[in-house]
Amino acid sequence: MEELNFPKNFFWGSATSAHQVEGGNHNDWTEWEKENALRLAENARLNPPQEGFSDYNLKNYPSPLQKENYISGRACDHYNRFREDFDIAKSLGHNAHRFSIEWSRIEPEEGKFDEKEIEHYREVIKALRERGLEPFGTLWHWTIPLWMRDKGGAESREFPKYFSRFSKKMAESLPEIKFWMTLNEPTSVIANSYKRGLWPPQRKSILSALRVFKILASAHIEAYNAIHSVNLDAEVGFGNIMNFVEPYSKNPLTVLAAKFRNYWSNEYFLKLTGDTHDFYALQYYFHFKIAFPQKIKNKNKWTSDMGWEIYPEGIYPLLKRIGKYKKPIYITENGVADAKDIHREKFIKEHLKWVSKALQEGIDVRGYFYWSLLDNFEWDKGFWPRFGLVEIDYKTMERHIRPSAWKFKEIIQKSEELSKVAP
Ligand code: BGC
Repeated sequence: MEELNFPKNFFWGSATSAHQVEGGNHNDWTEWEKENALRLAENARLNPPQEGFSDYNLKNYPSPLQKENYISGRACDHYNRFREDFDIAKSLGHNAHRFSIEWSRIEPEEGKFDEKEIEHYREVIKALRERGLEPFGTLWHWTIPLWMRDKGGAESREFPKYFSRFSKKMAESLPEIKFWMTLNEPTSVIANSYKRGLWPPQRKSILSALRVFKILASAHIEAYNAIHSVNLDAEVGFGNIMNFVEPYSKNPLTVLAAKFRNYWSNEYFLKLTGDTHDFYALQYYFHFKIAFPQKIKNKNKWTSDMGWEIYPEGIYPLLKRIGKYKKPIYITENGVADAKDIHREKFIKEHLKWVSKALQEGIDVRGYFYWSLLDNFEWDKGFWPRFGLVEIDYKTMERHIRPSAWKFKEIIQKSEELSKVAP
């Protein structure tokens, strides 16, 4: 494989989110999970992924066919084991880590901030710093406190006001964080909660989807300003999932349909947020080939356990596209569900090859965070998809480092050595 070239001081790490790893949460998702677990288990039996569930998934606890799989419960118990987990990240050569702060812990009742929980996140940041890991803090990774849900959640015109108040409080209380991410993947929530009606609050309505676009964009803008009002050194952005969209053929209708899809998934939200970005945070998972008016399914040559296509070269045009904004870029998520760890090493290397190419062509990429450090709770799919560099035994909570995590470490070390001798 050709040499990978990354600049000095590049951030290497992995990402997690509070609800997916902490355990013991109480928010809109936890309530929804309890109401929907049985249905989701039944749905998994009727509609397994393309290649079916592997033996690993069926034999390991919890299996996709059990209702326990769909209840986040104690998750990875990361709330209590974060130091152990950061020891692992350090041993894997990481120098940065992305995590999220659970709004429902900090503000369980409207306007009442829980100092004990703020202290918890101070400890998290301290533990990261002690291990030489730069913290990237996300303020909203999808879960909503129950009081905010009862006001209409992300559909409420008041969402930006409450969210920015929480963001300001966090920036004041946690000045040790320099890199803030306001929202995680707003367009994923718009698509899954409001367009497809799959996630809470399962409102399948284009009007609601359009409304939430605007509300979340205002939430980002207000939080961006609020953070800067208390921390002048902060660097603020939001986690943006971008899909590589291509037309299937040169047919003009197909080309138009692909443009339309590209606009809604990649351009519209960015447009609504204007210049409120100190950096761009790219999260890359999907490649879509669009055909119109007929429907053609992507011929997926390489797929994950979830049946998602793996298409590393798609990251390159997306980097080139956001490169035009001339701001630093961090890849804040990119990962694969691969329980047996047969794809992950190649997955990481191939994506990094394309990142390295973009860098050589002048795109200012400054970090790569693999999703995820740990196996975790994959939303409406529950625990069975295994994204972790580290495998979790959900019965014992033991952590087992997967071989690909050491391979990732080799890439990090090699690139750090190379960057030292670079002119
Ligand atoms: C989300 C994560 C999720 C991952 C894998 C991203 O869209 O930010 O929360 O687990 O993708 O689906």
